[in-house]
Amino acid sequence: PKYVTPLTIPAAMPMSSTVPAGPFDEYVISVRQFRQQVLPPGLPATTVWGYGSPDHPETFGYPARTLEARVDRPVRVTWANELLDERGNFLPHLLAVDPTRDWANPGGGETGRDSPAPAGTTSGPYTGPVPFVTHLHGAHVGEESDGYPEAWYLPDAGNIPDGFARYGSAYDGFRRSFDERHLLPWRPGTATYQYPNDQRASTLWYHDHTMGMTRLNVYAGPAGFYLLRGGPTDLPAGVLPGPAPAVDEPAGVRSHEIPLVIQDRSFTVDGALSYPDSGRLDGHAGPGVPEHAAASAADHMVFGDTIVVNGRTWPVLEVEPRRYRLRLLNGCNSRFLVLGVTANPTVRPASSVLPFWQVGGDGGFLPGPVPQQRLVLGVAERMDVVVDFTEVPEGTALYLVNEGPDHPYAGGEPGVDFEVADPQTTGQVLKFVVGALTGPDTSLPPEQLRLPAIAPLGTASRTRRLALSVSRGEGPGPAAVQVLGTMGPDGAPLPHGFHSPVTENPVLGATEIWEFHNYTPDAHSMHIHQVQFQVLGRGRNGRRPPEDSERGYKDTVVALPGDVTRVKARFDTAGRFTWHCHILEHEDGAMMLPFQVGPLPADPHP
Ligand code: C2O
Ligand code: CU
Repeated sequence: PKYVTPLTIPAAMPMSSTVPAGPFDEYVISVRQFRQQVLPPGLPATTVWGYGSPDHPETFGYPARTLEARVDRPVRVTWANELLDERGNFLPHLLAVDPTRDWANPGGGETGRDSPAPAGTTSGPYTGPVPFVTHLHGAHVGEESDGYPEAWYLPDAGNIPDGFARYGSAYDGFRRSFDERHLLPWRPGTATYQYPNDQRASTLWYHDHTMGMTRLNVYAGPAGFYLLRGGPTDLPAGVLPGPAPAVDEPAGVRSHEIPLVIQDRSFTVDGALSYPDSGRLDGHAGPGVPEHAAASAADHMVFGDTIVVNGRTWPVLEVEPRRYRLRLLNGCNSRFLVLGVTANPTVRPASSVLPFWQVGGDGGFLPGPVPQQRLVLGVAERMDVVVDFTEVPEGTALYLVNEGPDHPYAGGEPGVDFEVADPQTTGQVLKFVVGALTGPDTSLPPEQLRLPAIAPLGTASRTRRLALSVSRGEGPGPAAVQVLGTMGPDGAPLPHGFHSPVTENPVLGATEIWEFHNYTPDAHSMHIHQVQFQVLGRGRNGRRPPEDSERGYKDTVVALPGDVTRVKARFDTAGRFTWHCHILEHEDGAMMLPFQVGPLPADPHP
């Protein structure tokens, strides 16, 4: 059944009541396992993971509560891994962990960490404690606080098996540098990160980033919005529809600024999250894995058969005839979304009845509002839009629909260049029912909005040619994987591994152009940590101008097959970070590489 559950709008995450705020807003945020009614009432509840404040048990949810942050007001979060049962013992993963890839591998011993399990030891499933590390996506942040994939840590459980590594290989180095500079000791099972918030007002989000298992950890639920407000790059309060909700609003919504995280998920008949076992890189379909799921996993992508918005399948939102600000996030593992608002949810092509007035992207406001009939959202991209229901008669039902594909995206026109998602299921997202107006709308009509200025970056000192390509595996591994690398001397793509010597090594303070040369048949959602970049162009020669929707700062960009996608960024924070495809099955495969700003350390792990 669709549209029986009211949309839940996550409220603000409460600050810590044990660590007093000083120069920082202080939070303690744990990830825990719990049950939530993701499916409609009457169907079984789902065991999920989510973040919350341990001081306030009612705050745990999927998605998590929103961190409300102010520009230039630093935030410090102690992130705790509490994937524990009532007795303090670790909980196993909800999903099948693939031991054949480069992954956190806590049981691999000191030298075997962050690596594939040795040959002959991969037969049994991994049933050990769950490594976890949180990344704030889009943050301008120091390396010690970025959630490096090898800076994972286990819960502080009573029953960690002998010989297990409690921390990833990069954890200790980051902890030391943090302790030395800030005198805030990390406790076992936690990492304390700080976010300076010295960047534009923007829609960021936080999620797990553990080596080789991000796709599984994120699929289980832990993710939330981080809304950075205030300062000269924001609009004064009241200009856009608002405010954001102060308390969770499962029904009778009264806020007019609504974050929406859209995800696809599959469930078993007993309500459990279902993820194909064949998400193994070695490509084997597990027992009970439907053929289509096995096939897409062999292509290293996973597509769910339901749409979940803010942690509920196909919710319904009662709106007033006024303007709403929607902060959209594509939180899917692999799926690209093509969104529209229509009156007939199953008719394709969907005829748009209300435009989206896009005002912002990943890294804050655009130069001006852009009216759009359709929004293309690659994995992890955000769009800040105003939808104006003012003229819609009371009682009208409208639908947010998805005309993206149920398979890898490669660009083009929905229904012409690719088959659109099933209009009965993944082609539908959210229902709006227009009710009565309860108070005046004092926000500005979107076409009258003047958005804050955008300071362009200066001239770039160098251009890096980076390659997205398909590598034929050898031996018992996968037949083919999508990989990242550079361009070899012969002009052909040269794949790199995560642990091969770092080649992307910008000088501290340098402005650089990064070109993504996509030799694969699919679009990829390319993300660079630490920076917000400007999209310069794309196409065969990288000269076609960016879309209007991309004219603000961004941290994630759609790189279409056959294209050169060019972005420009300033690297002003020294340290070790990653760049990767945000299709999580690709990121956990071979589409993630480190980069280092400033001198390369002798010790490859900081
Ligand atoms: Cu949203 Cu490197 O991640
Ligand atoms: Cu990809």
